[in-house]
Amino acid sequence: MHNQNKCSSGKYGGKELEYLLEFLDHDNPVNKSKKSWSQRFEESFSEKLKVKYSVAVNSGTSGLHAAMYAANIQPGDEVISPALTVIMDAYAIIHVGAKPVFADINPLTLTIDPNDIERKITSKTKAIIVVSLQGLSADMDHIMKIAEKHQLAVIEDSAQTLLGKYKGRMAGTIGHIGIFSFEAKKHITSGSEGGMIVTNHDELAVRARKFSGIGYRHMSAFAGRTSLAISDVQDPNYLRFDTIGLNYRMSEVQAAVGLAQFERVEELLSKRQQVAKFFDEAIEGCQWMVKQETPRNCEHSYYTYAVRYQGTDNLNVSWKEFYDRYKKLGGDGFYGACMIPYLEPSLNDKEINGATFKRGLCPIAESVQQEIMQFKTNYRDMEVAKKKAEILNTLINKLS
Ligand SMILES: Cc1ncc(COP(=O)(O)O)c(C=O)c1O
Repeated sequence: MHNQNKCSSGKYGGKELEYLLEFLDHDNPVNKSKKSWSQRFEESFSEKLKVKYSVAVNSGTSGLHAAMYAANIQPGDEVISPALTVIMDAYAIIHVGAKPVFADINPLTLTIDPNDIERKITSKTKAIIVVSLQGLSADMDHIMKIAEKHQLAVIEDSAQTLLGKYKGRMAGTIGHIGIFSFEAKKHITSGSEGGMIVTNHDELAVRARKFSGIGYRHMSAFAGRTSLAISDVQDPNYLRFDTIGLNYRMSEVQAAVGLAQFERVEELLSKRQQVAKFFDEAIEGCQWMVKQETPRNCEHSYYTYAVRYQGTDNLNVSWKEFYDRYKKLGGDGFYGACMIPYLEPSLNDKEINGATFKRGLCPIAESVQQEIMQFKTNYRDMEVAKKKAEILNTLINKLS
């Protein structure tokens, strides 16, 4: 009935509008009997990622918080997290009262260094957050081995990837619990905010769903499954809650948009990978643009195309000067890496949950962070992307 309704924006070029109209028309008997949008999104997500449970939430950050709760991280515990990532990983640890312990990175892949994880483990360590930075999985086999040896939970922050692979397995599904983000710039978006928690473990799934769903007693690992009769609930003595949770639920509007986007995920991913190929060609042979290295057994999903810019010393052209010159030639603005979390004013030099964060904790990440350039990959028009990569190549040739 709504098939003629198409968004003019290529960003929402799938069935987003059709699904939204169907949601708004939910009194229509045809729609009334259908599963909720979040259930449909979760089931579709689980199927494609080959994971037992998916729990839709309203952001990646809330997913991280719920994952911390699910893994039973408590005040006094320590959680190891990479030094090169967004600050939300540390915030999730702090919000359950635990202490973030930062591990340094592998300067080639930019992901957490398993050897530094081992160095940072103490008797208080309970979990490791592993981030697929820019769309690239960390060294998961090595990390899972360490986790098994020390009985630690592994939380895979896959906010920056979707359908990225590690040894043929989907990023996000290798650790004990994983999270995804559907914020506006991510591989898919559920409107501007949204997220998903995934796990193969029954108990983690129930705990994550209860925490993100205000702790309703009757909730199970799957969405929408309850054996309760409505007359049981419509009782003043009915006891609803057995868990102290928060309302992190994904809305039906978000889920309708997210599902429509997810139906196009392969197409969206292959576009990003194609854009990365243009940038590969643009920087080929350049000694002072060092691409994030993809190990042979990984499939990078290219949230961004990240390079380490080493022209500051080699060419005497600063990061910002390079940025200005690229833009002047017609290139698009690009981001640097997020500041090291513990150098942000909210954490730096503060005493939080028994930790004090000072410069020098992770020297490799601190130095590499200053070099990173993150070129955008979410072009809709491949001709435009090609042109931007050619502009980069022109600038490289001018400076070389
Ligand atoms: C690695 C990583 N983790 C977590 C998040 C948080 O996701 P959200 O913005 O959906 O809360 C992001 C978002 O940028 C991210 O990049």
